[in-house]
Amino acid sequence: MPEMPETKLILQGGGMGEPLQFTTPSSGLLIDVVRELAGDGQLPLYWRCGQGTCGACLVYLQHADQPGELVMGGKERNVLVRMRLLNEAQRVAAYLPDTPALPRLACHVHLLPGELQVHW
Ligand code: FES
Repeated sequence: MPEMPETKLILQGGGMGEPLQFTTPSSGLLIDVVRELAGDGQLPLYWRCGQGTCGACLVYLQHADQPGELVMGGKERNVLVRMRLLNEAQRVAAYLPDTPALPRLACHVHLLPGELQVHW
């Protein structure tokens, strides 16, 4: 049987001294992984709705495919515009530059194989 692709997560924010690192199957959304850890106190990441609409789970990502282009969904864009983290031009752009400076919401981040650094 082929091995399941995995994502190596390196998570750091909220005043953590050391990043939390672990490997997880590359499926689903980042929020689904961090929600449990945040819930049992292992990770000081704030989240609220878990649905991609409130913007509480703001993160910044670093991965091997950067710099690249990201087609961000309209729901995530709208929340980020409301938070004044994206402007109107970015709201309507076909692509956004995928760099460590691009704000993202953990509720909208799909886990891909490889290493993913998450900062907040
Ligand atoms: S927790 Fe609300 S957008 Fe992610």
